[in-house]
Amino acid sequence: MANVTFSSPIMHQDKTVYAVAGNTATILNVAKENRIPIPFECENGDCGSCVIEVEYYDDSNKMSLAFTEKEKARLKELGLLTDADIENAEVNDMPPKYRLACQYIARHEDIRITFTGEPGGA
Ligand code: FES
Repeated sequence: MANVTFSSPIMHQDKTVYAVAGNTATILNVAKENRIPIPFECENGDCGSCVIEVEYYDDSNKMSLAFTEKEKARLKELGLLTDADIENAEVNDMPPKYRLACQYIARHEDIRITFTGEPGGA
């Protein structure tokens, strides 16, 4: 089970939800189910509207480091991900700061998701 806390200046207060273990829903889907207003358009990794900042509460529990190729390409284009970040994530299990909510699937990690409320804002 993943404990996901959403936080944004456009929300009245932080909201923590439980994403069921084994659930393959993206963070964007978890947000939509819980009426968390993360901006989105394409839902396919193309537009970059759904950029989120991810913070891990438990350093020993970093997971979900797999990127889709689209996510890598879009985040690099936005200047939010470097080749070093990708290598750090894929080789050293060091999660990058930014992800695309429509591509990122939380599994067992406890995380805090921050978003500005502006499409593509980070
Ligand atoms: S909604 Fe377009 S990249 Fe996520």
